[in-house]
Amino acid sequence: MKIIIGITGSISAFKTIQLVSDLVKQGHDIEVFITEAGKRFVAVDTLQALIKKHVYSDTFDDMNPSIIPHIDLVKDADLFFICPASANTIAKCAQGIADNMLTDAYLAATCTKMIAPSMNVHMYENKATQRNIETLKKDGVIVIEPSSGLLACGDIGKGKLPDESTLLDMIDYALSEHPLKDKTILVNAGPTQESIDPVRYITNHSSGKMGYAIAQAAFNLGAHVILVSGPTSLPCPTGVKRIDIINASEMYQAMVQYKDQADMIICSAAVADYTIASVSNQKIKKSDTDLILPLTHTKDILEVLGNDKHYVLVGFAMETENLIENAKKKLEKKHLDLIVANGLNDEGAGFSVDTNNAYLITKTTCTPSGLISKKELAKLIFKTIGEHIC
Ligand code: CTP
Repeated sequence: MKIIIGITGSISAFKTIQLVSDLVKQGHDIEVFITEAGKRFVAVDTLQALIKKHVYSDTFDDMNPSIIPHIDLVKDADLFFICPASANTIAKCAQGIADNMLTDAYLAATCTKMIAPSMNVHMYENKATQRNIETLKKDGVIVIEPSSGLLACGDIGKGKLPDESTLLDMIDYALSEHPLKDKTILVNAGPTQESIDPVRYITNHSSGKMGYAIAQAAFNLGAHVILVSGPTSLPCPTGVKRIDIINASEMYQAMVQYKDQADMIICSAAVADYTIASVSNQKIKKSDTDLILPLTHTKDILEVLGNDKHYVLVGFAMETENLIENAKKKLEKKHLDLIVANGLNDEGAGFSVDTNNAYLITKTTCTPSGLISKKELAKLIFKTIGEHIC
């Protein structure tokens, strides 16, 4: 894909160097436009070495008279991303002022546009800046909200450039089609923890990676995503609303609370089938005799959601034997539209790895995914829903 990166005069401009380097490594065709103020913070030579092309800042730079860079270079672009976007450049873009190479090119570009505002908190919160950002949003520009924290100027508040993984996720989002726009997708992910006493609990090996990849893919496709997550060490997927829960009962309550908002529900969580019958308030002391802990059934959340459903319902099956046969039984019993069957013993499948090797089973089809990344499987799930269910 062809991405135009616009760099303006903000101290966080130095972080754009790494972003440009990673986008080049991902195989994107990158052009860079930089303002005079931007050049005070990053070296043009560094950028040119990374993209192996000229970096533009002067509209009247006529090193190649056969092209008009601010017009010709943006014609076939897929994305124009101003990162970081200073208050000054945001104001110019909102008003249509074209007085430098970057703003000229921005005005000439007809592709998707995105900005990552980054500045002092008071400059960001200033009514004029907020007004300009609202204008850009109304014009269809994607605005990445700055992070909060200790700013380079010493103030604390909103204005930091988000971390690189968020910027890369937002670039994926901006480059994607959004067929799920106006749809709400409820996803659950991760393990649950069932307390034994204040110190111990029963859990399983789920990392949450599959469900988090599904939530991210759904956001990239334009959906409003609610992710109900058991305890994991993963960062919240970009653009996703996450509800943290600990045990199976809390996961059940959260899923029931949000189910009526959903057009699609995807249950990838490894919910405990049993919980401790009576949780001890005090730490259980060891004794010389064996300890027997009575367990009681938890609710099967997916099965409950399958009754009286008004949404597309997708479940997972984790099996160690008779994979397809057992998965088909779950598809029918829980009234699912699609079940993703993982064989725990299959190469590349399993809890903490980044890959999966699954079968996508509907009432009429059974498609092997082959060994692919969890991110690719997440996209394949939505493709399968689009082709066979919706
Ligand atoms: N599931 C659920 N609530 C539970 C148990 C499972 O919602 N209490 C969901 C999982 O999120 C998954 C599907 O049911 O989407 C299948 O889970 P799995 O563990 O493979 O099977 P179980 O139905 O629990 O049956 P078994 O453990 O006997 O294979």
